[in-house]
Amino acid sequence: MLELANKRVLLGVSGSIAAYKSAELVRLLCKQGAQVRVVMTATATEFIQPLTFQALSGNVVYSAWDDADRGDGMGHIELARWADVIVIAPASADFLARLRQGMAGDLLTTLCLASDGTIAVAPAMNRLMWENAATKENLAVLKQRGIHILGPGTGGQACGEVGLGRMLEPEQLARDIPTLFSTGILSGTKLLLTAGPTREPIDAMRFLSNRSSGKMGYALAQAAIEAGADVTLISGPVALPSPSRAKRLNVNSADEMYDAVMSEVAANDVFISAAAVADYRPANPSKEKVKRKDDNVDLALTQNRDIVASVAALPNKPFTVGFAAETSDVEVHARGKLERKGLDLIAANQVGEGQGAEVDDNAMTMYWADGSQHLEKTTKNKLARQMVAIIGEHYRAES
Ligand code: C5P
Repeated sequence: MLELANKRVLLGVSGSIAAYKSAELVRLLCKQGAQVRVVMTATATEFIQPLTFQALSGNVVYSAWDDADRGDGMGHIELARWADVIVIAPASADFLARLRQGMAGDLLTTLCLASDGTIAVAPAMNRLMWENAATKENLAVLKQRGIHILGPGTGGQACGEVGLGRMLEPEQLARDIPTLFSTGILSGTKLLLTAGPTREPIDAMRFLSNRSSGKMGYALAQAAIEAGADVTLISGPVALPSPSRAKRLNVNSADEMYDAVMSEVAANDVFISAAAVADYRPANPSKEKVKRKDDNVDLALTQNRDIVASVAALPNKPFTVGFAAETSDVEVHARGKLERKGLDLIAANQVGEGQGAEVDDNAMTMYWADGSQHLEKTTKNKLARQMVAIIGEHYRAES
């Protein structure tokens, strides 16, 4: 099972002899489907070569301040935004002290300071350093700030002593890292979600479709799984790996998607309609490939059934969430759809100008009958987690 499919893990390596074990950690994270980028402190590079991490992660390794720079001096902010989670393993006593102080004297501490996401540290140090009041106080403060502390373990140490302070074994860390994504807000709920485009056949070879990549829907499916939901994903044709632990049903046309949704929906508490369903289909699709003629062709289109509106009209309707991708007057159109389709929540965004379909970043506003919340532009993975938190909150308030 790919527990970390599509996840972006930024692995920070600080100066400790345990740094060599992080090479194995990178391998295990990649094996679970994660994209891994490694940032090393200067001291870490004295313990292990950046090339080792580069070969294992398949990405360049960052260490010096300007390694992440692409000419605008903003590389550190980009890297922090890129990460779904920052894991510092090993985290030396010195690194923990600097993190606690909010120092930004090198790339790795700066990234942590510039991140509003999940940060975890795997301490590694001699047992007396671990037991020192200064370290204890640093850890307590970091914990209180919401930083996850993984370990340390106990056992023999490089200095010959035995006790607490060993970095957790890579296998253990590779098991712990996926749990950093769990929130539990949708525990015990069944959630049905559509994603991707639909294809409306014109003839045996051709179809009408749209630019949807499915990324937003798949990120939502993954975020819902992490929030504890039992997820069924009805997907149009996309080139994305299945989220771990989702039941996935593949469809092509809006009609097939309608049928799949209607046969699954009764068992579900929440329905999210993230698919870009075609509003129209060719009225008379041909079984044969249509031959070129020496004339123009008119393509007659007929309306597809509105899936999300049909779900919202069911007597025992699930908590229903729709999407509105608009090129103008986002709020007006979104609120119109919220009401007309009988939705509980609608996620609306401006499309075009490098936003919306096909891209990795997105901004979104969630509207409900008497309120709204804007979510700033960020990666679709992070956005999905924020959206699931809002969906969970509203679902809980109504049920
Ligand atoms: O009306 P519009 O297509 O912009 O509405 C978008 C919302 O309606 C999305 O949530 C989309 O998944 C859903 N929809 C649907 N069935 C259709 C068309 C759109 O469920 N036939």
